Amino acid sequence: MGTKFWWTVFASLVGVSTWIISLHFWRITRKRAPPGSIGWPLLGETLLFLKPHPSTSTGQFLHHRVQRFGRVFKSHLFGEPAIVSCDPDLNAYVLQNEDRLFQCSYPTAIHGILGEMSMLVVVGDAHKRLRTLALSLVNAAKTNPTFLHDIETNALLITGKWKQKQTVIFCEEARKFTFNVIVKQILSLEPDSPETSTILKDFLTFMKGLASLPLYIPGTSYAKAVKSKSQILSTLKTLVDRRRNGEETHRGDFLDMLLTSTSLADDEILSLVLDLLLGGYETTAVLIAMVLKFLTDCPSALQLLKSEHEDILSRKQNDKAGLNWDDYKQMSFTQNVINEALRCGNVVKFVHRKALKDVKFKGYEIPAGWKILPMFSAVHLDSSSYEDPQEFNPWRWQTAIAGKQFTPFGGGPRLCPGSELAKVETAFFIHHLVLNFRWRPAELDHSVAYPYVEFEKGLPIHVERLYMAN
Ligand code: HEM
Repeated sequence: MGTKFWWTVFASLVGVSTWIISLHFWRITRKRAPPGSIGWPLLGETLLFLKPHPSTSTGQFLHHRVQRFGRVFKSHLFGEPAIVSCDPDLNAYVLQNEDRLFQCSYPTAIHGILGEMSMLVVVGDAHKRLRTLALSLVNAAKTNPTFLHDIETNALLITGKWKQKQTVIFCEEARKFTFNVIVKQILSLEPDSPETSTILKDFLTFMKGLASLPLYIPGTSYAKAVKSKSQILSTLKTLVDRRRNGEETHRGDFLDMLLTSTSLADDEILSLVLDLLLGGYETTAVLIAMVLKFLTDCPSALQLLKSEHEDILSRKQNDKAGLNWDDYKQMSFTQNVINEALRCGNVVKFVHRKALKDVKFKGYEIPAGWKILPMFSAVHLDSSSYEDPQEFNPWRWQTAIAGKQFTPFGGGPRLCPGSELAKVETAFFIHHLVLNFRWRPAELDHSVAYPYVEFEKGLPIHVERLYMAN
């Protein structure tokens, strides 16, 4: 067959694909949906949507479209027609109506990397079953005094290695801390056990791939992430086997609970452990870094926070037992600082949902099958929800109510089960940080939404030990 034949085949394929894509886009524009633009065939507006920007801002994509089309607009994202919502009422409605009108729907690339049994992928009853288990972990942790003790021990272990006037990459330190805490709670692994460093190393590769282009070609971040996920699973499998074979005694941790009191198959157990490790460490580390960054830039808040922790310390002078849940509950200004860091820093910018049927709400029409993205950052930084939204002002939480505008942990039946753990870890780390150290930035840095949030330079700081408390 000659070249002419192949050119004819090629031209016909291009013609047919163009026709299919045009038809798809024509159908989208004909649907009754809020105003908006749908960008380029296939790509839609995904690249514009994903363009990195400071996490303390909404980014140009949202800013321009909200000005032009209003708070709810249509677009074409992640290969599908989509509604983007910056309206707190619609966001709450979407989150509350999970499985009835809307459903969690992460892009297929995420399925490929997290696995089909991940909590962010499963829906309906399968999700409810896993969620009940995840919640029981958190409740068990809260009532277990050794959990709070482990958090403190790990905070002291990490900061104890900082030498006088040393520069530390704060994000790395925060990551080590939150990782040590979660692997201890779930798997009883100590910071210096070989499995801890193996899993952490694999997780770092895994996280990079989670946010990369889903190209399964050897050498790409995505392919490396898929590989590191199977390495993490194989390390976890070894731990499970050791317990099943009696080579390791029961430790009373979350893995024990899963092995003894549930009917989950081994691969479901491994997937749930992976979800909790994944959900539990990176986001919390970013939150701790965010708190440090905002406190550095707001000396009056740092001063007040420090005196709150000095008061706690002086009250506990004769108490050798360490921090407990009551102490945490008394850290009221610290909780305000954490809320404000979550609002201004937007650790999770948005979540993925899709409409199960045609939905009408407040005059907005959302066609069945379309994606809908509740944008938390846009509401957190909106002046109709918060006065001077760009200002880091923890005092606002003395009167502000964390209503439907405040969704750093999502909402509805998928509300983050680890929110309280993340906050208590942050509060205890900050306790030891402000009592024992002074710090200043080693380099200017800021948090960027890629859309996953990361400090560009890892937040390098010079630390100086105060030699006053514990
Ligand atoms: C600052 C820290 C954290 C932030 C900002 C955060 C944020 C979120 C958000 C927004 C969701 C909802 C996702 C959705 O609706 O699609 C979520 C879900 C989840 N988070 Fe967190 N999270 C944090 C810490 C944690 C911790 C410490 C754990 C584990 C102990 C955890 C485990 C999970 C799990 C398992 C889910 C899935 C829940 C479900 O689908 O029912 N997270 N998180």
